[in-house]
Amino acid sequence: MTLLHPHTRLAPSPPALLDLHPTPDDMRADVIAGLSATPKTLPSKYFYDARGSQLFEEITRQPEYDLTRTEIALMQQSMREIRLAVGPDAHVVELGSGSGRKTQLLLGGLASPVAYTPVEISREMLLDATQRLAYAFPDVQMLPVCADFTRPVPVPPSLIPAASTLLFFPGSTLGNFDARQSVDLLSAMRETMGDGGLALVGIDLVKDVADMEAAYNDAAGITAAFTLNLLARLNRELGADFDRRRFSHVARFSPERSRIETSIVSRGLQVVRVAGHAFVLEDGEPIHVEISHKYTDAHFDALAAQAGLRVSHRWNAPADRFGLRLLEPA
Ligand code: AVJ
Repeated sequence: MTLLHPHTRLAPSPPALLDLHPTPDDMRADVIAGLSATPKTLPSKYFYDARGSQLFEEITRQPEYDLTRTEIALMQQSMREIRLAVGPDAHVVELGSGSGRKTQLLLGGLASPVAYTPVEISREMLLDATQRLAYAFPDVQMLPVCADFTRPVPVPPSLIPAASTLLFFPGSTLGNFDARQSVDLLSAMRETMGDGGLALVGIDLVKDVADMEAAYNDAAGITAAFTLNLLARLNRELGADFDRRRFSHVARFSPERSRIETSIVSRGLQVVRVAGHAFVLEDGEPIHVEISHKYTDAHFDALAAQAGLRVSHRWNAPADRFGLRLLEPA
């Protein structure tokens, strides 16, 4: 038997991690494939190295980028109704682990949530996020899962049985996926939540074109720095030789596709070398790096329906600037 001095404080035990060993991203293969394609593309998921994550936090503080502020205010205003719609004793499963601000609002606003499961491919970010929340919510069981959230995820059972599973997918992150990927992702969510499950999804809504474009072209140049930071990352991690001064950030709204399309555009004819491959870029040639969809109700409802889900509640920010949707199995 171990005797502890009465004043000994035990550090909170690290949360049990369910590690599904997701296939690590192969950035080199993705980048070579993307730059070999016509038109050239690079995946936006590679924006988020340490500097990129820092720049994204800075974007959310720019006056032009009101998505994050508006979503947080909307959550605060709607929390009573969200609590009633979800009911007590939910197991909250978040896809990705963000800065934790919205998670804190949700866990603090729901009626006696029993467990919290962040699902995240990066073990480091997963454990960081979990540890911080464990201190803030000692009564909520932390059950992190290291997995790729674009696939169905097994939800670990909680000690106190959950009345329902509530998936949480805020930030209009869904908007970064194309039409097919969005339906696949929503279908995976449908499978993860199970028959009695729900999903709370944040989506940015179509608004004035000038407002939408300004959000991705802030006057301080933070979004441009965020986009072009990808080139610095490729230089550092893949030994590429991009000269950042010879590329521009361009973000425009496509009305046909209802999305902001962001590219890195070559200034002049040039050759770049990446991991032993050479790529020619024409003057003005774009590398497509990100899409950010802006939704109408008809568009979002149709995506959900294709994934076997239906919208049971909708909350919109003033002037329909952002939306939260509660989804249930159709
Ligand atoms: C966090 C992915 C939703 O697409 O609006 C912000 C990322 N990119 N500014 C978005 C982003 C440029 C953001 N998401």
